[in-house]
Amino acid sequence: MRIYCTEDYASMSRKAANLLSAQIILKPESILGLATGSTPVGIYRQLAAWYRKGDLSFSQVRTVNLDEYVGLPADHPQSYHDFMRQNLFKDVDIDPANTYLPNGMAQDLGEECRRYESLMRSIGPADIQLLGMGRNGHIGFNEPSGDFPMYTHVVELAPSTIQANARFFDSPDQVPRRALTIGVGDIMRAKRVLLAVSGADKAEAVYHAFAGPVTPPGASLCVTAPPKRDPGRRQSRPGPPPENRRRRLRLTMFRKQTTTRL
Ligand code: GLP
Repeated sequence: MRIYCTEDYASMSRKAANLLSAQIILKPESILGLATGSTPVGIYRQLAAWYRKGDLSFSQVRTVNLDEYVGLPADHPQSYHDFMRQNLFKDVDIDPANTYLPNGMAQDLGEECRRYESLMRSIGPADIQLLGMGRNGHIGFNEPSGDFPMYTHVVELAPSTIQANARFFDSPDQVPRRALTIGVGDIMRAKRVLLAVSGADKAEAVYHAFAGPVTPPGASLCVTAPPKRDPGRRQSRPGPPPENRRRRLRLTMFRKQTTTRL
């Protein structure tokens, strides 16, 4: 695992975009696992800027997104379909037919989970999976739990997630209560994982992702836990970092695929 600590959001975005663009340049037909939320916006802007300069092409890239709200049509401004269109796809030369997200409007959500799961299997593992992190440590929409589903599933959003995401809606009542998300097992099949985190309000979640213990654990633990972890080791970590250090925490974590703690 490599950890990059950067000065601010702009340099985090640039560093993460560099890592993604290196992947695309080395392998133009890369499969990218993509994420939504405010964190990756700067990363996508930087990638689009490099595309405009002629440094990068998405013409052979395929993308698979982590999640989508249940009940929002693809053209709803807060749907993740629309987010991806507005923040990346419309600004680069990607073929829309090569971009995949779960369908939150499916009549049969169980069937949609199975469809997305088999789609991911047919495409193959992501060469690199970009992740953000929720304030409660969630990844995609895998909410803190003692029992993370491995595969694509329907999730009831945690009250804290509804509250955090309410800033994108006119009122908290409009935030969908459910979502479709790929599972922790799906995420960990990626060849590499790039977890981007920014902001003092995420410091606690970052600390617990690396040092724990926390109950229930956030899914972020699964991507930060080193392989072959000694189960007792988490307990013996030092206490929380000093407040001033936590406030300055802005980092990007880049890692080879590890085994999970599941
Ligand atoms: C949503 C997404 C996550 C994302 C999280 C954090 O809940 N489902 O994939 O990581 O938001 O968003 P932000 O980057 O805006 O804090």
